[in-house]
Amino acid sequence: MYKSIKSAAVLSVAILSLGACNQTSKSNQQKMTDSTSLQAKIPDSSGFTQTIDGKQTHLFTLKNKNGVEAAITNFGGRLVSLLVPDKNGKMVDVVEGLSSIDGYKKAGSSYFGALIGRYGNRIAKGKFTLEGKEYTLFKNNGPNTLHGGKVGYDEVVWDAKQIDSTTLQLTYLSKDMEEGFPGNLNIKVVYHLGDDNGLNISYEATTDKTTVVNLTNHAYYNLNGAGSGTILNHSVQILADNYTPVDSTLIPTGKIEPVKGTPFDYTKPATIGSRIGDANEQLKNGKGYDHNFVFNKHTDTTAVVKVVGDKSGIEMDIYTEEPGIQFYSGNFMAGANTMKYGNKDDHRTAFAMETQHFPDSPNQPNFPSTELKPGKVYKTSTEYKFSVVK
Ligand code: BGC
Repeated sequence: MYKSIKSAAVLSVAILSLGACNQTSKSNQQKMTDSTSLQAKIPDSSGFTQTIDGKQTHLFTLKNKNGVEAAITNFGGRLVSLLVPDKNGKMVDVVEGLSSIDGYKKAGSSYFGALIGRYGNRIAKGKFTLEGKEYTLFKNNGPNTLHGGKVGYDEVVWDAKQIDSTTLQLTYLSKDMEEGFPGNLNIKVVYHLGDDNGLNISYEATTDKTTVVNLTNHAYYNLNGAGSGTILNHSVQILADNYTPVDSTLIPTGKIEPVKGTPFDYTKPATIGSRIGDANEQLKNGKGYDHNFVFNKHTDTTAVVKVVGDKSGIEMDIYTEEPGIQFYSGNFMAGANTMKYGNKDDHRTAFAMETQHFPDSPNQPNFPSTELKPGKVYKTSTEYKFSVVK
């Protein structure tokens, strides 16, 4: 297996160099959108070596026996790169990202690759009540709080410990009342790259006061390769008969509605682009897909999401213990940032699949609870597994 990947890689390098000669007359723009011209590689670690708030940041690399590689920085616990083989055995970087911490800081509100907390997605009007006490948060998204507030877990430096060549452990103490959330929350997140080409992210947390917790990862994927253009021809399947419709500020209405007969029906594979332009009130509210899908009853051995890159044949299967997922089709990407491969983060050139409890659960009594009490352990895991369809 390793050998055939290696020889395919050698062959593709040769093809690539030929391609490079032929391309001298092509414009830069054309070069960037041609996925075969991109040589997948992990950014230089120098852009990730800094001291922030007295803590050291780095870029860590995990590698499995098939040559699959993941790069993660402890600044925001961000997944920076993920190199997996395509249908020809060529390594493709499926994660959109930046080449330095400064780049990630500039692109802050996009949350590229980041660990999200204390509360993933929105809390309406930056307020919630717990055990009779009202808590007020910073509103960083119009009238609402998004992804933890002003300084979420995406912008803090996590303590990192590389356990072995395939495992990175990150820990963070989120102090009582940090960003307005009660309780000292001790968090441990472990990234593990399996030999089955699965990237597993497991989360654990304990608190000393009742609080709310909803942790996720906000990687942006393009399965044809970061910087290779639109994701509209990717095919998606989500085992969710229901979703949570939202108002115009993307707060769930509280209803759990069937996807049947709507552009949200991804129970059978369909491309993202096939219905994203439909005249539909919910697509209008989200400016595309930016909604929480409610998984059908499942275990962590069911692939609840399958996405396939039309050009690469790379399939990503998601396994999770979470009840929902935010499918975000990159609607707010606006080409404001220069990414790892020199491309811009143009509209819908990557998508996020954020496994989670439902947005605004602290204010929605009929949604599964996100409360964590002292003495209990928050524990959840999600795996993104890669294979190819020929
Ligand atoms: C949110 C989007 C937001 C994106 C990046 C997603 O989880 O639902 O509305 O634009 O994250 O911030």
